[in-house]
Amino acid sequence: MLQPSDFQQRRTQLARRMKKNSIALIASAPVRIRNGDVEFPYRQHSDFFYLTGFDEPEAVAVLAPGREQGEFILFCREFDPEKALWTGHHAGLEGARETFGADEAFPIAELDKRLPELLENRDRVYFPIGRDQALDLKVMAAVNQVRSRARTGVQAPYEFVAIEHLLHEQRLLKTPAELALVRKAVEVSVLAHGRAMRACRPGRYEYEIEAELLHEFTLHGLRAPAYPCIVASGHNACVLHYTANDRRLEDGDLLLIDAGAECGNYAADITRTFPVNGKFTESQRLIYELVLEAQTAALETVRPGRRWIEPHDAAVRVLTEGLVRLGILQGKTAKLIKDGSYKKFYMHRTGHWLGLDVHDAGAYKVGGKWRELVPGMLLTVEPGLYIAPDCADVEPRWRGIGVRIEDDVLVTPDGCEVLTAALPKQVADIEAWMAG
Ligand code: GLY
Ligand code: MN
Ligand code: MN
Repeated sequence: MLQPSDFQQRRTQLARRMKKNSIALIASAPVRIRNGDVEFPYRQHSDFFYLTGFDEPEAVAVLAPGREQGEFILFCREFDPEKALWTGHHAGLEGARETFGADEAFPIAELDKRLPELLENRDRVYFPIGRDQALDLKVMAAVNQVRSRARTGVQAPYEFVAIEHLLHEQRLLKTPAELALVRKAVEVSVLAHGRAMRACRPGRYEYEIEAELLHEFTLHGLRAPAYPCIVASGHNACVLHYTANDRRLEDGDLLLIDAGAECGNYAADITRTFPVNGKFTESQRLIYELVLEAQTAALETVRPGRRWIEPHDAAVRVLTEGLVRLGILQGKTAKLIKDGSYKKFYMHRTGHWLGLDVHDAGAYKVGGKWRELVPGMLLTVEPGLYIAPDCADVEPRWRGIGVRIEDDVLVTPDGCEVLTAALPKQVADIEAWMAG
């Protein structure tokens, strides 16, 4: 569990990194209507959550370093007993102060009235420019109000900075408290994948396997997947973001499952590919072992001092060499890499940052160069091969095979830790698990 002091530390860290005489503000995610008067399950915006821990809509957080009456101001919904009766607890102004550590809390309806005063005599405003049109308009309206009073001696802010520029760098390095949540999401996701593997057999449907995953997540109190489950059998595995999950599993198919639970808003993101009937065919095994070899090579490059791109480059090299070896690509490896021929079978990147968002915040390049890995960074390593079912220029035995293997990896002082290591991925281990 993250404590109020964790969020306080994050705000302090942000305030320290803001230029002098600045103010920052950020808005919660809106409620989205599903249909009629039914709402989608609410998920707080990750940046807003990161700074506040506040899980309600209709809120704006303001960070005003040096402000006498308090630096952290939260605008939110007032407590409404009638609303509490229908939809349950909400913090109200008192909760904003007492539970969430706001120095001052005001009703969200007072934002327009109070914002000009907060912006007065600040040089710079950090906010998520362009993310939320309503917030953009409110900030500009408030700035114009301050400007209109210039003759009284107040100064309006004259610089506007995307808050993400600072915030996302902060989010990139995970603290032990954050990693505890990721580990929990991973632990439950590993159980769910294990359960799904054992539940798998010809004649069942992809959605039945999805149900096994969601069942295990929910049993452990993790009520939402971090992203829609991909349960892709046969050549559905070649559709990278397949989510229809409605096909019957056939004898001889591979099944690719890409699924991860969310814990305290932190994501796990795991993929395993295995045979529906418990035994890889020769062709499936050759492709699978090639992807596994690529993943092993990629993982070896995840350590402090190496660059972001190195796992990808390592995976591409191994995959391309292997595709030549199997006769799926023809030519010299170096040339096939240079001209991008491998992209016909490997069209995505080897990973991404992981955290509050499954594709987490943080730049991949700094100053035009791929960023150096440092301890505390969390990423996925997920090479794959996808041979389209209608790919006429490969032998029929390879067509329609799609394989991805994805693990969640923490950069540590002396290398890396594969958080998802408990889930089988060697051919023999998968076959043994499925038979068990
Ligand atoms: N599950 C999305 C991804 O692997 O990036
Ligand atoms: Mn991923
Ligand atoms: Mn994934």
